Amino acid sequence: MKLKISNILLTCCLIGFLILSSNSKPVYSSDLEIKLKPLPYAYDALEPYIDKETMILHHDKHEQAYVDNLNKALKKHPELYKKGLDGMLKDLSSLPDDIKQSVINNGGGVYNHDFFWNIMAKGKSEMPTGNLSKAINKDFDSFENFKAQFKEAALNRFGSGWAWLVQDNGGKLSIISTANQDTPISKGLKPIIGIDVWEHAYYLKYQNKRGEYIDNWFKIINWDKAEENFNLK
Ligand SMILES: [Fe+2]
Repeated sequence: MKLKISNILLTCCLIGFLILSSNSKPVYSSDLEIKLKPLPYAYDALEPYIDKETMILHHDKHEQAYVDNLNKALKKHPELYKKGLDGMLKDLSSLPDDIKQSVINNGGGVYNHDFFWNIMAKGKSEMPTGNLSKAINKDFDSFENFKAQFKEAALNRFGSGWAWLVQDNGGKLSIISTANQDTPISKGLKPIIGIDVWEHAYYLKYQNKRGEYIDNWFKIINWDKAEENFNLK
C-alpha cells in the first residue's frame, strides 16, 4: 500500500513539473544572441572602389549597431531565436507587435549587410555567367539593359535603402528597391544581388555622387556568388 501511495505522489510531481515547464517562457541567455559575422575579406580588399575606412565603419559600427539592437529587442521574446533570422524576416506577421518594427529595421539591417558583403569581391568577371546570364538576357533583353535599369532603381531610391535583383517563385527576375532596411525575403522574393545606397555606404569616398558609387560597384559584383544565389532552390 505504501509503495502505491509513493508511486501516486511521484506521478503527481512529474505531471506538475511537466505542466510548469511547458508553460514557462524560454529564458533569455547571451548564448542565444545573434553575433556579428566577420567580413569574408580584408577591410581594404575592395579598394579603390570601396575604401578601407568606409568598410571599417560600415561593418564594425553600423552593422554592429543593428546586431546589438536586434538582440536588445529579442530580449523580450527569446523564443523567437528558434526561428532564426531568416525565419523571422520571412514571417513578419507572426512577430509580436512590440518588437515587429525593430526586427524589420535591425534584423533586416543584419540580413541585408551579411548579404551585401558576400555579393562583392575583386578580380571576378564583370558580367554574370551561366544560368543567371541566360535569365538576365531573357528577362531584360540584354545585360546592358539590365544594368541601366538597376542603376536607375539605385539612383532613384529616395533617402536610404537598397536596390535589388530578385527572383519570384515563378522564376522571373525583376529589379526592386526597398526603403530603409526592408528586405526582399519579407516579400517572398529571393535576392540575387543587392546594393546598399544608404549614404553611410559611400559618403566618405563619393560624397553626394551616388551614381559614381553605383558605376564602380558594378566592377566588384561577385557574379559567382550571384550565380550561386540564382541556382538556390
Ligand atoms: Fe549599410
